[in-house]
Amino acid sequence: MAQIHRFENPQALAEGAASFLIARGQAAQAGGGVFSLALSGGSTPEATYRVVAEQVGGTALDWGRVRFFWGDERCVPPDDPASNFRMARQALINHLPVPDDHVFRMACEGDPEQGAMDYEATLREQFGELSLPQFDLILLGLGPDGHTASLFPGTKALDSGGRWVLPNFVEKMDAWRMTLSLEVINSAAAVAFLVQGAEKAEVLSRVLEAGDEASPYPAAHIRPASGELHWFVDAAAAAGL
Ligand code: 6PG
Repeated sequence: MAQIHRFENPQALAEGAASFLIARGQAAQAGGGVFSLALSGGSTPEATYRVVAEQVGGTALDWGRVRFFWGDERCVPPDDPASNFRMARQALINHLPVPDDHVFRMACEGDPEQGAMDYEATLREQFGELSLPQFDLILLGLGPDGHTASLFPGTKALDSGGRWVLPNFVEKMDAWRMTLSLEVINSAAAVAFLVQGAEKAEVLSRVLEAGDEASPYPAAHIRPASGELHWFVDAAAAAGL
């Protein structure tokens, strides 16, 4: 069952989502383990990252026991303005006491197919040879077309064929992306969508109302099997709910 958290404006949303991220991290670390976090691209998560970075000294999270992954990436070099890695590094990771080897960038600017295989191998090293990895928290955005991560409507990566990570050519962008599979996202202990702005209102209500397996919106297929599903939305995005 999805939990919807509504906020008056984007700043309140960013603060609410940042508190949630820290709380999930603390819960994951409570037993002495690491917090595995998959980051999203997009402008909404960026605001959340900036709030987390501002609070870094004041939280009880042990940053040395956080492992940073990505839910998706644009296949561009890491210093490209479009890079999700670059955005998260600038908004968040550069401000944290985190060693480089705890940060697992999705690299697909070379051969996207090889990049996806390499990232899956990295996940298998970090999570073990399980049927599926279980992230503690996966952050996601929602595109106006109903895409999430880099799972775009009608694209090949929606059918994972058992792969954890897929290259995905997105025709309307004429660009390669890399993405976690639907199954990997649905295996997480918690998934949180961060959605703001009036241009998301219509698709948000359609995704939340969809409720059936035939929905054309990839975001409607995010239903963690045994984990929690959270939606952090601002008033403008929630206008149609
Ligand atoms: C990406 C994202 C993507 C994004 C949505 C929403 O790489 O583009 O991971 O899924 O989160 O497009 O983006 P905004 O928050 O900027 O609207």
